[in-house]
Amino acid sequence: MKIASIVGTRPNFMKIAPLANQFKEFGIGHILIHTGQHYDNEMSKLFFDDLEIPKPDINLGVGSGTREKQIEIIKHKLEPILKEEDPDLVIVVGDVNSTLAGAEAAKKLGIKVAHVEAGLRSFDKDMVEELNRIETDKISDFLFTTEKSGNENLIKEKIDEEKIFFVGNVMIDTLLSHREKAEKSDILKRLNLNKKEYCTLTLHRPTNVDTKEGFDNIIDILEKLQEKIKIVFPVHPRTRKNIETFHLEKKIGSMKNLIIIEPLGYLDFLCLMDNSKIVLTDSGGIQEETTVLGIPCITLRKNTERPVTFEEGTNTIVSTDKDKIIKKALDILDGKVKFKNKIPELWDGKAAERISMIILKHFN
Ligand code: UD1
Repeated sequence: MKIASIVGTRPNFMKIAPLANQFKEFGIGHILIHTGQHYDNEMSKLFFDDLEIPKPDINLGVGSGTREKQIEIIKHKLEPILKEEDPDLVIVVGDVNSTLAGAEAAKKLGIKVAHVEAGLRSFDKDMVEELNRIETDKISDFLFTTEKSGNENLIKEKIDEEKIFFVGNVMIDTLLSHREKAEKSDILKRLNLNKKEYCTLTLHRPTNVDTKEGFDNIIDILEKLQEKIKIVFPVHPRTRKNIETFHLEKKIGSMKNLIIIEPLGYLDFLCLMDNSKIVLTDSGGIQEETTVLGIPCITLRKNTERPVTFEEGTNTIVSTDKDKIIKKALDILDGKVKFKNKIPELWDGKAAERISMIILKHFN
């Protein structure tokens, strides 16, 4: 059999890595197609190197653009390739524009689609990721879920139960298989940091960085927090652009405990998170990774599509109200907050193996 996997953005790469390994082990024919949605070295190539993912067989070079434009161009470029390659199955992961575009292109040609990380719902339709998730799940033939809430959401949306498989979390497969290697990273030394004496911050959601109001809110939080602890901030390209657009360079530059750096590769970032006192983020995947690492995480959003991370893990959702966020962060720093600190069911490093077995059983 032959599988074509579609990746496009940074969080896709760690999800496809364990699957590519498993397919190789099982002798399944596999081609990897990169849409080129993320193209900077720090957003793309570094991850292929760190995770030893085979180089993409094809790169569509779609680049930046609006959601509609990105999806349209990916579909247009993907169609002749899928016709030529004629895979039995197309795999898409996560919730980015490349995910939906890949699923729609395959479906149009009558090729079966598997969605890895299906069923997650924030119930916030202002998030493009939520639209991508819903639309991708609607047309997928195999829906692989990371947590039980995913199954429940899909069943409520009247997706045929026979298509839904609770398999665990491929992103955690990657984390567990790289944790030891990440411990050897010298990132703390390079940044002159001591273990547990800093916070890690990531930001890129439009609600936080695409409006002046949203960004100002975040800046107020950082001004307060950096009085107590160093904050390391690897800046996403979208965020960097908006720092310039809103002329925030001076304000950000004046915070002496805010350490601004370029986006990091996988191993350096994992090491940075693993040694943080707290992580502040608006990312989806980082909520899951901190849960497994047992590092307190404050999610800078009103909601999460990953409820298991606060029900069982170390994640906290406190809306985007700056006073609430500051209070929660200070409480965590003072050791006043207790977390359940449980590892969610099936986040055991074997999700890719389960997915491969299900696929093999179906196609053989
Ligand atoms: C995308 C995903 C988001 C995911 C995030 C992880 C969608 C809708 N969003 O958001 O779900 O959490 O990736 O990073 O698919 N840019 C660069 N260099 C790059 C990539 C992007 O400069 O390598 C710039 C683009 O020019 C654009 C901006 O960053 O202006 C945003 O890129 P885009 O791919 O649209 O979305 P992300 O914000 O990265």
